[in-house]
Parts: sequence; C-alpha cells; structure tokens
Amino acid sequence: MDILNRLPEDRFEAIDDLLAFISIYDDEERTRRYFELLEAHRTDIEGKVCVEPGCGLGLMSEKLARLGARRVYAVERNPHLFALAQKRLAACEQVVLVHADARTFVPPEPVDVLVHEFYGQLLYDEELHILDGLSWAPRLVLPNGGKLRGGLTFVEAMEDSVVTPEVVRRLEGALVSGLFDEAGLPLQFDVLEWRYGQGLHVPDFVSLEGRRGDLLYFGLEVQHDGQAVCQAGVCGNWSYAWTWRAADRFRLWFEQGDRAPEALFEWCS
Ligand SMILES: C[S@@+](CC[C@H](N)C(=O)[O-])C[C@H]1O[C@@H](n2cnc3c(N)ncnc32)[C@H](O)[C@@H]1O
Repeated sequence: MDILNRLPEDRFEAIDDLLAFISIYDDEERTRRYFELLEAHRTDIEGKVCVEPGCGLGLMSEKLARLGARRVYAVERNPHLFALAQKRLAACEQVVLVHADARTFVPPEPVDVLVHEFYGQLLYDEELHILDGLSWAPRLVLPNGGKLRGGLTFVEAMEDSVVTPEVVRRLEGALVSGLFDEAGLPLQFDVLEWRYGQGLHVPDFVSLEGRRGDLLYFGLEVQHDGQAVCQAGVCGNWSYAWTWRAADRFRLWFEQGDRAPEALFEWCS
C-alpha cells in the first residue's frame, strides 16, 4: 500500500506508518507464534506488570491482559494506531494505553515483563535499538534475541523469466527484499546477532569462502533464549533480502538514520 498524492510531511509519515504496520496483521503465523511464546510464559505474566513498547493495534497487550497481567502499559507513538488500539483495549481495564514515544516513556512502577516486536527485515533496521537505550530495566524481555542469517544459491536455480541473472548482476551492492520467493531455501550461516542486554553483535566481516552460489540472501530469525520464535519466509511479515555475490567477504552494519538505523553493506576484497 502506497500513498499516491502529496500530503503535509507529518500527515504523510503518520499514514505511511499506519499502512506499513497494519500489514503485519496479515501475517497470522507471526501473531500465532507470539501468542504461543506469551502462553509459555503465563506464570511470568500472571499478576505482574508488563509493558509493550510499540503496541500497534494492541493484540499483544490484550493477550497479556487475558493471561492475567496485573497491569499492562501499552505504548504507541503513531496517532492512528493509538486510536485503533484505544478501541480494541477499551474493555481491558488492566491496560493503560499511552500515546508516547517508547524512547522517552518511563513506567511509573517496576516492570516485570516487556513484550515487543521491533524486528526489521535485516534484524536491526527497525526499532530494536530502543531496547538497547532504555533507562529502566524489565526483569524479562519477550522475545530476548534474534539473528540475521544468510545463505547462498544460484540465480539460474530461481528460474525467473523476468528477474534474470543479467538483472540480478545489476543489483550489485544493493540488498533487495521480495526479489524471489524464498520458499524452502535454508538459512545456512549467522551474519548478525542481537540479545537484550548485550546489544547487536556485528562481525568485522562475514566470509563466504568455501561456499558455493552466486546469489546471497539474508533472513531474520526472531529468537527467545536461542530458540526460533518466527522466521523470515515462514512468517510473511519478513521476507528474505537478496543480492548478487561479488566477492568472498562482506560487511553489513548500521548507522543511525532520521528515524531508524540504516543498513550499510559492502563487499570486501
Ligand atoms: C512491528 S509493529 C508491532 C506492533 C505490536 N507490538 C504487535 O506485535 O502486534 C511496531 C509498532 O511500534 C510502533 N513504534 C515504533 N517506534 C516507536 C516508538 N519510538 N515509540 C512508540 N511506538 C513505536 C509502531 O508505530 C508500530 O505500531
């Protein structure tokens, strides 16, 4: 969904975000797996104080209330998502819906559980950085980790009559999402890792030496305690990112952009 007409900048941004974030709810597998994670931690949630920074439409906060949380602070910065969450959460008296930026929101009492879904296609290109900069510390974060993993295949094997090898070679240096259908392509090696409390681990470079393939792809794995919760390609909210292999080593890192960290990528000689 794209906005096709010119709008004042802040109105454009707010509606653009609304459209981007409501599309995650098409991914029912993501919601199902998150609910399973919360259910598995029922005893950590029951009677406890929870925070959901970036609550979107409020599904996770509603689930926390149903699992018996004593209080849930559901924090949302986007005015449209906040209004929609207000409607959903009106009947949940344990939920305090807060229209605020999660970077500056400080809960008025100690927090037992923080639940979030701040994962980008490239792991750290959305809002995980917020959790690395909190001025307060929850006892438990759900989920508490994630990886960006990679794999190699051959462009010819993708058998796409439009995105031919000639087209893909033109993409050198660009990481492109949605280029091919990722179905069944395994993630073979680790590229980046994030853990709550430890932040993002970025290696100096990743070596592909000894690995065959001219088409490099990346896929996100949301993890809790090292176990997969959601995976790109399985949960439709995240797709693989693809690029032409131009060398045997690459670097992938992030620099803070206007709104979220921006990914930088380069091949190393
Ligand atoms: C990927 S959605 C997840 C929504 C919800 N947690 C869920 O899992 O269904 C991320 C949400 O975080 C919100 N968000 C992003 N940055 C934020 C910030 N700094 N403060 C508050 N909300 C933020 C977005 O508007 C969006 O609703």
